[in-house]
Amino acid sequence: MNLIYFLCFVFVYLSAVDIFKPVSSIKCWNCRSDSDPKCADPFDNSSIPITDCSVEEELKHLPGVKATMCRKIRQKVHGEWRYYRGCAWLGEPGIGGDERYCLMRTGTYNVFMEYCTCISKDGCNTASLPITSPVSTFIISGILFLVARFIIL
Ligand SMILES: *[C@@H]1O[C@H](CO)[C@@H](O)[C@H](O)[C@H]1NC(C)=O
Repeated sequence: MNLIYFLCFVFVYLSAVDIFKPVSSIKCWNCRSDSDPKCADPFDNSSIPITDCSVEEELKHLPGVKATMCRKIRQKVHGEWRYYRGCAWLGEPGIGGDERYCLMRTGTYNVFMEYCTCISKDGCNTASLPITSPVSTFIISGILFLVARFIIL
């Protein structure tokens, strides 16, 4: 399973390289839950700043790349959830263009990460809806396949 996640990341990083879209500006919620608990889910925008990504600084390791999307990162480190919201520099929105899906990655030592990107509207990085991960889609299709098999046989 980890190999699939790794390949997803590689694909997203590579696809970012050849995307030179006209620069459009998007505004994203910008916060981290360790300094503002309202940044966590369920998201409460009342004290959270919204940032215009077109005026965000370029990243040192990504010269010339503009932030054109929003992202939300949910990370579990040693049993504790952390949330980060802000502008995104790399990748494509959602997975295969579907913003309901996020990249998931499970590491060792009880580390779990979910990385969601979106571009559909200003402040789109709120999403706190239940998210179907590629893993559960995979499991559900497996179950459907088995059910279909037993019905047919
Ligand atoms: C903040 O959240 C409230 C309630 O969900 C919503 O009505 C409002 O439009 C949001 N503010 C902005 C600037 O999006």
